[in-house]
This record gives sequence, C-alpha cells and structure tokens, in this order.
Amino acid sequence: MPTLATAVDGLKLPNPFIIASGPPGTNLNVMAKAFKEGWGAVIAKTISLDAAKVINVTPRYAKLMGQDGREIVGWENIELISDRPFQIWLDEFKKCKDLFPKGVLIASIMEEYRKDAWVEIVERCQESGVDGFELNFSCPHGLPERKMGSAMGQDCDILAEVCGWVMGAARKPVWAKMTPNITHIQEPSRAALGAGCQGISAINTIGCVMGINLETLRPEPTVEGFSTSGGYSSKAIRPIALRMVMEIATMMGREFPGRSLSGIGGVETGGDAAQFILVGANTVQVCTGVMKFGYECVQSMQEQLLAFMEQHKFNTLADFKGRSLPYFTTHFDLVQKQAQRKALSAVALAKAEKTATQKKAVHSDGEWRGDSFVQQSNALSRGVIE
Ligand SMILES: Cc1cc2nc3c(=O)[nH]c(=O)nc-3n(C[C@H](O)[C@H](O)[C@H](O)COP(=O)(O)O)c2cc1C
Repeated sequence: MPTLATAVDGLKLPNPFIIASGPPGTNLNVMAKAFKEGWGAVIAKTISLDAAKVINVTPRYAKLMGQDGREIVGWENIELISDRPFQIWLDEFKKCKDLFPKGVLIASIMEEYRKDAWVEIVERCQESGVDGFELNFSCPHGLPERKMGSAMGQDCDILAEVCGWVMGAARKPVWAKMTPNITHIQEPSRAALGAGCQGISAINTIGCVMGINLETLRPEPTVEGFSTSGGYSSKAIRPIALRMVMEIATMMGREFPGRSLSGIGGVETGGDAAQFILVGANTVQVCTGVMKFGYECVQSMQEQLLAFMEQHKFNTLADFKGRSLPYFTTHFDLVQKQAQRKALSAVALAKAEKTATQKKAVHSDGEWRGDSFVQQSNALSRGVIE
C-alpha cells in the first residue's frame, strides 16, 4: 500500500496537499477546518506588521467560465494581503498550534524593504509557534505600489538581501514564493536559494485583466465603475505553472540538490498533483481549488493520487518526484530525434500504408489549406489533458 506521508525540510506532512496562502487560510476558524479535513499543512494568509495600511475593496474577484457556462476555468483577484491586526494573528497561530500540535502551520510574511521590519516579523511569528515561513515576494497588485510583493520578487539583488535578513533570524524552514510575472523564474529562485532559503514555492498569480463588460464598457471586477489589473489563478494557469516549476526544478537539480520545491497553480485533482511532483515538486499547494470545491476536496485528491501511485507501483512520493524531467529537451534535439527515427523507419514506412492521421498532417507550412484548417490543426495535436 503506497503512502502519501512525506518529510520536507524536517517538517512531517501526512500528505503533500498544502493550503496555499489566501482566503482558505485567513483566520483560525478556516485553518482549523483545513486541519480537520486532513490537509497536509496550512500556509496562512500573508501578514505584515501594520495591517492598517491594507484596505481591500468589494467586489474583488472575477471568474472566467468554460463554454458550458458552469465550469470556472480562470479566477482573477485584486485582494491584498491580510487586513487583520498582527497581534490577532500571533494569538491565532498560537491557538492553532495548541489545537493541532502535529499540524504543520506556516506563516506567510511580507514586509517593506527594511531589515528591522523583516527581522521583527520573523522573530514574533516564530515565538507564536509556527513551523515555518513562506516569504511572499509575489503578490502582483496593491503592494508593489509600496515596493512590496512582486516588486521585490522581480529584483534579484533586493530579494537576495531580504532573504539574507530572514535567514539571519529564522530558526524554522523558509520557502521563498516566486512571482510568475518575470521572464526567467529561475533567476529569483536562484537568488533566494543562494541566500540560504530551504525551499521555493511557485507560482503566485499571473498579472491579468479578466475582461471588459460589453454593456458598460468597464473592466471587471468593477469597483465604483473602475478596476485595476489583478492576479489570475485556477485551472487555466496550470500549464504555465508546470512549465515554471519544471524550469526551477531543473535549475535546482543542477545547482541546489536537496532543496525543496512546492508547486502551485490550478491544482484540483490528485492527477494534477502527480504532474507537479513528476516535474520536481515535493508538495503542492491549493488556493482557488478550495474556493471552488471546499476543504473536503483534499479527500478525493488523496484518493486519486494514491490510485495513480498504485497504478505505477510507486510506494512513496520520492519514487516519482522529478521522474518526467529527463523527458524535457530542446526543440533542436526534438528535430534531431525525429530525423533519426524517420531515417530508421523510412523503409518500413515506404512499405506500409500511411495512416489517415499521417496523411492529413501538415509536413511543411505550404501545405496548410483554408478549407481543412481545423482538421489539419487537430492532426498536428497530441495529448489531451483535462
Ligand atoms: C483570492 C486570492 C487571494 C490570494 N492571496 C494570497 C496571499 O495573501 N498571499 C500569497 O502568497 N498568495 C496569495 N494568493 C495566491 C495563491 O496562494 C496561489 O499562489 C495562486 O492563486 C495560484 O494557485 P491556485 O490556482 O491554486 O489558486 C491568493 C490567491 C487568490 C485567488
């Protein structure tokens, strides 16, 4: 019987499913719900020393629906970090650890570019009993105006300096959470790991404009008739998140073996989680999935992940962590591999009747035709992921 239990940076998790920082970990009530439902760990909503500066608006979410009009495929938020006072958070961290002593509780923290502020927030959270830290270098809206969040995460020098301050004060594992709103996510990841962080979390939301209301001509979500660009999450971002996690894992394998990686972005099923682990993640985090399906979804996700492991005879998560990474290569190499394969099978192919798909497939750009464009596009596709 396979096990989902895992140890990451000395933290013992019953399973790799972690509540991502956001509404599902925004107070003691919901954090307790998460532990009761069996989540492997909880990362609380991001906090700062002075919550008075954090003022949210309503509405602050907008959804992109699939063609059936029922399935939510994309989710925009313009929500800030927690607007709850720091002292209340410290009390709730302590109460949460008293209620769930074995539950892994991670504080997500964010501060301005001042050493004393970062050291203070780390030390005071640490005293409250949290098991680890996630540094939010990735919130794409609101905070960058104060040079926080993704503004800090996009500047490798500042990020390394802040990670250094944190590592000087932290006695618990520290993960740095990356913004995807950058060209090469390996660079800030390398800066954080170089400064001594134990792990990387990726990704936060992707900068977006959800849409324009064609009646009012105003952008959504509309607040007093206006909007601002927000952060995109949910199923639609999963392919982008997988790409970025794959890139970070590849870099980490070469330069920082043994450090940890937490994959985030559109995880809704055990199969989604398996994919993140296959490209190098130790754990996965879920935010919008909980907002769509409730805390109970962790049960089906665990069952699905166990079924996947049984199918492949994997006993532990380590048995398949990073197993798909060797199958990524350059486009140049794909061309060479295909040429080699064609050369080998040229004789066989010449004899055999070509399949219908091979006949339809476009072999050079001059063969595309307006009257069979959709069929030609389909004939070039492989791999349907739900
Ligand atoms: C409404 C909302 C609020 C969020 N707040 C935070 C936050 O306070 N701190 C943080 O690090 N990430 C925050 N996130 C980002 C999520 O933790 C996660 O990185 C992102 O949504 C992608 O994962 P998902 O597709 O599972 O939601 C928030 C996301 C949403 C949707």
